[in-house]
Amino acid sequence: MSSYSPSSVLLLLLVIFIFGGSSAEAAEAPLSSAAKEYLQAHNQARAAVGVEPLDWSETLANASSRVVRYQRNKMSCNFANLTNSRYGANQFWAGGGSSTPRMAVDKWVEEKKYYNHGNNTCAPNHTCGVYTQVVWRKSLHLGCAQATCTKDQTTIAICFYDPPEWWGHVVMVGDGAIY
Ligand SMILES: *[C@@H]1O[C@H](CO)[C@@H](O)[C@H](O)[C@H]1NC(C)=O
Ligand SMILES: *[C@@H]1O[C@H](CO)[C@@H](O)[C@H](O)[C@H]1NC(C)=O
Ligand SMILES: *[C@@H]1O[C@H](CO)[C@@H](O)[C@H](O)[C@H]1NC(C)=O
Ligand SMILES: *[C@@H]1O[C@H](CO)[C@@H](O)[C@H](O)[C@H]1NC(C)=O
Repeated sequence: MSSYSPSSVLLLLLVIFIFGGSSAEAAEAPLSSAAKEYLQAHNQARAAVGVEPLDWSETLANASSRVVRYQRNKMSCNFANLTNSRYGANQFWAGGGSSTPRMAVDKWVEEKKYYNHGNNTCAPNHTCGVYTQVVWRKSLHLGCAQATCTKDQTTIAICFYDPPEWWGHVVMVGDGAIY
């Protein structure tokens, strides 16, 4: 799943070739394959409802990386308490082996079926805030990270969004899990 295809390696080499010579620009690190997958999955969900794509933020990626490493090292890969997060946040927990960035985003987008775009409402007894953060029009930047607890074969993934989705005065944080 996460291996490079020959064409993406070629594209990467081409990008390095084109931008490698311009030393005046701060060298922007190429995105990891995981970052590309998070970004692409989000931007496909956004394009499907006519919302502009997000870009990748190293600041947000680093912040999410700090949280998932803490959850891995101290909290057995359980969901993080993101109540006081300054960023919008979605998190994903998976048991039973490997999981990919696309699996996390697909899980969040599952809520789409309960969301009604026409009148901005969610079906009774369901939540839609995880999905609506994925496609939140005012969010511009995305950064995600994941960590695996090898002992239990569990994975925690977190994406941060900036600017966040707001529910009244509260920053949206939500989660989804597959077992
Ligand atoms: C993100 O983390 C990397 C690795 O620790 C570091 O080199 C980089 O400067 C950080 N970037 C930002 C924007 O914090
Ligand atoms: C999460 O953190 C908030 C604020 O620090 C705290 O009030 C709340 O009790 C915590 N929730 C859980 C489930 O630990
Ligand atoms: C929103 O629209 C859906 C589908 O047209 C409808 O079933 C639902 O009752 C509406 N909700 C509100 C609060 O108007
Ligand atoms: C929502 O859940 C409540 C409590 O479980 C239940 O009484 C109600 O019938 C449910 N409503 C719908 C539309 O499913």
